[in-house]
Amino acid sequence: MKILKRNILLNPGPATTTNSVKWSQVVPDICPREAEFGDLMAKIARELTEFVGNHDEYTTVLFSGSGTAAVEAILSSVISDEDYLLIINNGAYGKRMCDIANIYGVDIKEFQSVPYESIDLNRLEHAIQTSDRRISHLALVHHETTTGLLNDVGAIGRICSKHNIELFVDGMSSYAAIPIQMKEMNISYLAASSNKNLQGTAGISFVVSNVNKLKQLKSMRKRNYYLNLYEQYKYFSETKQMRFTPPVQTMYALEQAINELKEEGITARYDRYTKSWGCLIRGIKQMGLSYLVDDDNHSKIITAIIEPDNPHYKFDHMHDYFYKNNIMIYPGKLNHYNTFRIANMGDICYKDIDRFLELLQCYLDDLSILKKIEH
Ligand SMILES: Cc1ncc(COP(=O)(O)O)c(C=O)c1O
Repeated sequence: MKILKRNILLNPGPATTTNSVKWSQVVPDICPREAEFGDLMAKIARELTEFVGNHDEYTTVLFSGSGTAAVEAILSSVISDEDYLLIINNGAYGKRMCDIANIYGVDIKEFQSVPYESIDLNRLEHAIQTSDRRISHLALVHHETTTGLLNDVGAIGRICSKHNIELFVDGMSSYAAIPIQMKEMNISYLAASSNKNLQGTAGISFVVSNVNKLKQLKSMRKRNYYLNLYEQYKYFSETKQMRFTPPVQTMYALEQAINELKEEGITARYDRYTKSWGCLIRGIKQMGLSYLVDDDNHSKIITAIIEPDNPHYKFDHMHDYFYKNNIMIYPGKLNHYNTFRIANMGDICYKDIDRFLELLQCYLDDLSILKKIEH
């Protein structure tokens, strides 16, 4: 197998893929309505479920589209006119859920929380208990990719169970690295995609769903068409086909990525990521840089680093410097904090982070020289 050029992607997905995942997309053409392709999708859906739950109680509904499609499918398919959805907004992706729900006319209560601190669970429970209407559903992001903040889904799942609330989780950047258990965490619907910790290529998003709850959606008034969760589930259950054209080659990449995840194991993958993160943190601290979220609440997958205090620093300039060295970095996504973000997800290891740190040190040294010359 020819080795393709390897770029180091330190953006939070699509992540660096293995050579074998890249090549697995080169397959003979096939009509996706053939039984062979249906069997492939059924196997993929089953395995995606098994990473987080048992397939008697849970099932995975596949969609063509990026991760937002899966989040939007949940928010626009599951909530009836009588329901009231509480959305935890503690970062850009929590805010995006509010925006999506508002567009579909879903009644929401927004619960805001500081983007770099753990959610105050007492305040959350108080908001549920004192709400003007009964909260029927709650949505949150597991790992806020904006900052690297890891929200405590287990604890929030327990609160939901106590108050008989149905829980949706955006697990886009946690799935396949941070262990998730649908049942133990009381999650009814979980959204994720093919191209982050799964280390597949971009184009498939999916919703792991509680089968009983999914079946209950049959009689609901529909707010959407392409992204309807129940219709997509029903059609696939009956035909082993997606309702609309699936991204064929991406599906083969996902099959290979799943094989590689099973081989490595979720725990070992998270250990590898954590080792890279430890290396990153030691390195940036030595350079006098700091980061937003404290270690206890940190995902150890993406880090929002405070930008260097130097008048010559410009993110775009630093980006281009790394890009020339086959490393891709990412800007921050919070308005009031000047950060850039480094993700250590994907088929990379601590040695790649070492290389990044080496280059960062050179870049910062050059900035310091410029500053000195100016004075
Ligand atoms: C937590 C979270 N939710 C949703 C998304 C949106 O995914 P996409 O850009 O693939 O639509 C992202 C992307 O980074 C994410 O990190």
